[in-house]
Amino acid sequence: MLNQDKTPLVDALKKYASSNHAAFYTPGHKRGQGISPKLTDCFGTTVFKADLPELPELGSLFASQGVIQSAQEYAAETFGAEYTWFLVNGSTCGIVAAILATCGVGDKIILPRNLHQSAIAGLILSGATPIFVNPEYDRVLDIAHSITFAGVEAALNQYSDIKTVMMVYPTYFGACGDVEKVARLTHKYNIPLLVDEAHGAHFAFHPDFPISAIKAGADLSVQSIHKTLGALTQASMLHVQGNRININRLTKSLELVQSTSPSYLLLASLDAARQQMAVEGKQLMSRTLQLAASARTAISQIPSLSVLELTLPTPGFVALDKTRLTVNVSGLGITGFTADEILVDYGAIAELPSLQNLTFIISLGNTEADIEQLVQALKTLATKHKQVFETQSAISPVNLESKLALTPRQAFYADTETLPIDRTRDRICAEIVCPYPPGIPVLIPGEIVTTEAIAYLQKIQNLGGYISGCADSSLQTLKVISDKS
Ligand SMILES: Cc1ncc(COP(=O)(O)O)c(C=O)c1O
Repeated sequence: MLNQDKTPLVDALKKYASSNHAAFYTPGHKRGQGISPKLTDCFGTTVFKADLPELPELGSLFASQGVIQSAQEYAAETFGAEYTWFLVNGSTCGIVAAILATCGVGDKIILPRNLHQSAIAGLILSGATPIFVNPEYDRVLDIAHSITFAGVEAALNQYSDIKTVMMVYPTYFGACGDVEKVARLTHKYNIPLLVDEAHGAHFAFHPDFPISAIKAGADLSVQSIHKTLGALTQASMLHVQGNRININRLTKSLELVQSTSPSYLLLASLDAARQQMAVEGKQLMSRTLQLAASARTAISQIPSLSVLELTLPTPGFVALDKTRLTVNVSGLGITGFTADEILVDYGAIAELPSLQNLTFIISLGNTEADIEQLVQALKTLATKHKQVFETQSAISPVNLESKLALTPRQAFYADTETLPIDRTRDRICAEIVCPYPPGIPVLIPGEIVTTEAIAYLQKIQNLGGYISGCADSSLQTLKVISDKS
């Protein structure tokens, strides 16, 4: 057992930042001396003294020894992994590297259709062939949950040459699928389970949270420490256990997608966040859960509003992260997008608006005063903005068949042209087209554009949803693979 109160990286950085020396190394601002006063007015000067490069005493992100490596070993112990890597380009680069480490050109990977765009980047860079499993969908609330054991099992039975399986756990709304059962299943086939746990970095620190992916048996998990714990934006971690992941190939993959000049501010924030959670994580999470529970109770008493509660049995769901509050505003006759704009004026800013809902993240950084402000803002919203027109009807995802004509990689490298949307039927799509809600890509690069897909996207637009991922979000036009390529 390590002494988890130690912070090897923070200590080394502090020592170097306070040492008296003339700097002839990068970055060019030389310990803040060359920073524009516009920026020092904002941030002071101390922080810039710690913005240092990979000096010998500060180790290197990819070295097998030094203070970064030592900080990663502390993190592995805290998060229950065998190995941990610090990431300075968010979970985005961890997910890309996880796919690169497990799939080559043409290899098949099972993925949920409600994957994050970083997984699509991983498909493009690796050349892997996606085998999509549709997530379970709550048609009343317009919320996608997880893929199920049965869905993964069916895909594994259909294809005998699957290389890896990826799950998103939890979803943006805090819903968790059955990672434990899926891990046991993939391991029966000796296939690694990769988990996009970007929103679940806090799970290991309180028994009232869903089980962490690594504890549940996943081979690899990627967590955005910056999303729910106390690290700086972009600071994430990748954890591995067992022998199904080739560590050398993973390290090489991470080298491909990370900077050779990683920010020590981000790295030190990971070291400090780990120490904080190792030493007082349970206490901090108890308090966070209490804050979330008090917000949940108060908000659900506001007329016309409700807070997402999931109960068993719900397909694609085994546990809910209670620090995620998804508030349904459809009873007010306004969309989540409108409610979001109004709430800003009342001093509460949500994480994610959708057609019927607003999702709020409660974390260790929130205070009782924040919760009071949120509850008050929602009360004002509910009294002042109740509309008389009818509630928006929910948008059910149609079961769109994915017809892959090219792998995402082949589509990415092909010549493209932009056409009016009604001339793209039966052509090969060259971009991601993802409507919110439900946040499930309807088209990804390489898929055939179908009449049903276009009709579905237009329906969502007409109901007030928006389209993301593609160049023309109004969907007048769409980028497709050129006929000549
Ligand atoms: C499900 C999911 N996975 C991965 C990511 C990427 O995480 P990061 O912002 O740390 O790169 C996000 C970001 O929102 C996400 O929602």
